[in-house]
Amino acid sequence: MLVLVGLVLCLASVDALTAFPPKFLVGKLNGDVVVKCNTSEQRVTWTQNGDPEPMAELVAKGQTLTILGLDLPATGNYSCWAGTVLLDTTYVVVSGPCEKGMNVSCQAESYRGSFHCSWTGPRSSIFRARLTRSDGSLGEWVPAAGHRGRFSASFADPSFCPFAEELRPLQLHLEGLSDTSYLNFSIRFFVRDIVRPDPPQELTVQRLGEQLHLAWAPPASWPLPKSYFALLYRLQYELPNGTQVDKYVEGTEETWMQERAQRVRISCQDPYANPAWSPWSPWQDVSAAQQSQLRAR
Ligand SMILES: *[C@@H]1O[C@H](CO)[C@@H](O)[C@H](O)[C@H]1NC(C)=O
Ligand SMILES: *[C@@H]1O[C@H](CO)[C@@H](O)[C@H](O)[C@H]1NC(C)=O
Ligand SMILES: *[C@@H]1O[C@H](CO)[C@@H](O)[C@H](O)[C@H]1NC(C)=O
Ligand SMILES: *[C@@H]1O[C@H](CO)[C@@H](O)[C@H](O)[C@H]1NC(C)=O
Ligand SMILES: *[C@@H]1O[C@H](CO)[C@@H](O)[C@H](O)[C@H]1NC(C)=O
Repeated sequence: MLVLVGLVLCLASVDALTAFPPKFLVGKLNGDVVVKCNTSEQRVTWTQNGDPEPMAELVAKGQTLTILGLDLPATGNYSCWAGTVLLDTTYVVVSGPCEKGMNVSCQAESYRGSFHCSWTGPRSSIFRARLTRSDGSLGEWVPAAGHRGRFSASFADPSFCPFAEELRPLQLHLEGLSDTSYLNFSIRFFVRDIVRPDPPQELTVQRLGEQLHLAWAPPASWPLPKSYFALLYRLQYELPNGTQVDKYVEGTEETWMQERAQRVRISCQDPYANPAWSPWSPWQDVSAAQQSQLRAR
């Protein structure tokens, strides 16, 4: 019975964080941390995670509380009070192990200055990130969505100019908090290196005699004008014996084929940067295209 009550109290005292606390302090393991109570009150009392018992390694003096030799049990929510009036709250954590990157990967679907990043982290943690924009200004903190240790967030740089050459990389600063520790990580990159276009759209196939006429449109998210934001297209068609053949075209949104293709799909790439190919469009069945043509007549 006693053990059970103890367990419940323990669980209740360490609430998992659901958002970044307004004030938090990052201390070194075994280092001293000074927590300040932002008040004009002369005498304050302190609680840690709601617990009023002052721990031996806490030294209260005036409006400050010094934590001597920070360890994991000493982390958490420090609040200062004047009687029953809450004056101030600071969340204290230890700086986490210096992670060799959290496998951050970012992707942009075009040159509009918006992109999406994802990374891994401890399951119980929360993350936020903010961007140093192309004009050097600092963006707002963006809270990350997390699920089973994978985190992600979307960013937009309103100062990003799609027509200018990127001279400075963007910098993304990520920070994470678990109940006891703080993680901190930065990456730099150029948008041109993370662009992966969406697939081309509206691929249509028409059989005209012995020839196939293919037409399509650029991805809706790709910027205009076409003369400036060119795309290289890769068509892939499958022959009756299962062999797949690639054909590359640039500067046009249609092409002709002699081959007896069964089905066709398309993807695209920015020919002037070095980024990834878009995902494939769905396969277009050539025989189905032919039939619908016959029915139309
Ligand atoms: C201290 O409190 C005042 C008034 O509430 C506030 O304006 C100020 O930003 C606070 N300072 C810190 C360091 O939190
Ligand atoms: C810290 O404790 C104070 C006082 O009990 C409470 O108002 C605040 O929400 C707590 N903060 C966090 C991050 O748990
Ligand atoms: C990093 O993430 C990518 C996908 O986002 C995954 O394929 C890769 O295995 C990850 N690497 C590590 C070391 O976690
Ligand atoms: C976060 O990391 C940067 C370096 O990447 C460092 O300069 C900064 O002090 C760190 N912030 C905290 C609160 O530890
Ligand atoms: C499939 O057909 C094409 C053209 O008809 C031919 O060039 C190719 O060698 C064939 N591949 C196989 C594996 O039979």
